[in-house]
Amino acid sequence: MLTKNLLLVVCLFVAGSYAQSKVPVNVYYEALCPDSAKFINQQLYPAVQQFRNNIDLKFIPFGKSSYRTQGADTTFECHHGPNECYGNKVHACGLYHIQGNSYQPNNTREALILEYVNCLMERAQFKEGEFPGKVCAEMHEIHNWDIIERCANSTEGSTLLKNYGDETAKLQQPLKSVPTVAFRQTFDADNQQLAVQNFRAALCKNLKPSPVECRNIPGSAPMGAPFGLVTLLSVILARMFHY
Ligand SMILES: *[C@@H]1O[C@H](CO)[C@@H](O)[C@H](O)[C@H]1NC(C)=O
Ligand SMILES: *[C@@H]1O[C@H](CO)[C@@H](O)[C@H](O)[C@H]1NC(C)=O
Repeated sequence: MLTKNLLLVVCLFVAGSYAQSKVPVNVYYEALCPDSAKFINQQLYPAVQQFRNNIDLKFIPFGKSSYRTQGADTTFECHHGPNECYGNKVHACGLYHIQGNSYQPNNTREALILEYVNCLMERAQFKEGEFPGKVCAEMHEIHNWDIIERCANSTEGSTLLKNYGDETAKLQQPLKSVPTVAFRQTFDADNQQLAVQNFRAALCKNLKPSPVECRNIPGSAPMGAPFGLVTLLSVILARMFHY
């Protein structure tokens, strides 16, 4: 009985440490930036679908903008003009106000934020005139667009965006390129270059131990195979002992 319990503990420990491989990923981007859209739509979005449990994702919608404060007022200057400042505020307000839907287990706050940001970035590139805040909220069953819009058009949105500005400056000042991708809140030129070209490879390089999904990616950490094997063995052993 003692050995069985011990075995269970070992199995849980191994499986636990294996499952917990998770890395903080910060994405510094701008609402109207074509390179940011390309990165989020083509690299980040599909990778997060696959590695949902391995990424602690944080969006920081400020990029190469700047701000000035005069008394209670904050004015922004944005890389792609004033419309981008409004877009960045919609992002900032969405990131703050989007709520998970408890009746639909798939629609967690994190999942809705990812869908919303992905949609905003894609549709803003259509250049339809109006920023796609409302359209994207409707497409992804985000029911509080009125709150997000009110936030984006008020000092609440300015304050949120200003905070993202400060957070961007903490990483790098001035930000050299947009988008910038940082693992563990730290800028690293090699990670940056790899991440924008092949986010999946950069992610796998930064996951230790690397999950099985990383195995077929060239250049990822070779830790995956032995750890995968140990986990498989512990599952088989646990089955044998009827746990
Ligand atoms: C929720 O996610 C699961 C697994 O990804 C999927 O099979 C299911 O169809 C989804 N449900 C809804 C309502 O989207
Ligand atoms: C919010 O600002 C945007 C962009 O300036 C504008 O198009 C929209 O009508 C405003 N909405 C409200 C509710 O004031």
